[in-house]
Amino acid sequence: MQYYIANWKANKSLEEATDWMKLFLKMDLSSLSSETKIIIAPPAPFLLPLKTLSHNQKIISFAVQDVSRYEKGNYTGELSAASLCGIAEYVIVGHAERRSLFHEDEKILQAKVENAQKYGLTPIYCIRADTDIVPRSVSIVSYEPLFAIGTGRNENPRQVLRIKQGLKLPDGTAFLYGGSVNRANASLYLATNEISGFLIGAASLDPTAFYQTLTAH
Ligand code: PGA
Repeated sequence: MQYYIANWKANKSLEEATDWMKLFLKMDLSSLSSETKIIIAPPAPFLLPLKTLSHNQKIISFAVQDVSRYEKGNYTGELSAASLCGIAEYVIVGHAERRSLFHEDEKILQAKVENAQKYGLTPIYCIRADTDIVPRSVSIVSYEPLFAIGTGRNENPRQVLRIKQGLKLPDGTAFLYGGSVNRANASLYLATNEISGFLIGAASLDPTAFYQTLTAH
């Protein structure tokens, strides 16, 4: 499986998000390999309208960008895993921006993984380096070095492979890369046959750029 995860972060209005999806649905998705999995991670309020728009396209799934560490209760503003059930299939956990801007540590991230899995959401677990601990139960790991996120300076594919080897992930774990991925560099990673896809920020904000990235091999 090749994962192409569009992480929109805190970008787009509802109208912009809807326009994105309408344009994307006009592109030739039927010619993509059945091994391709497109996962859109919009701001949470847009999950349901975008899911409704794209319901005929089985190749498209949805992720939420974060989930609460709390299961339920008096936590104003939190998005519980239970509330996302049936809306998103995946959840991004431990993105570098959550770790640094919102001080999420490994204990918090472990609680998020457990909550997500309890309610049937698959975590996409992000690490910044091979020193970050990966919870044993996760099946998708994305390596995203800080210097490469949003900078236009993508990590060398050989170094990405070194990180993968150092992690000694259980067999069957999907190992992804994120950090300034675009249509010009995606094929360098895929050529290694060791990287199962990408978490894509800036290059996913425009539907054409995203489509070109996922057809760039
Ligand atoms: P970028 O973001 O592609 O804009 O570098 C990647 C990410 O933060 O997941």
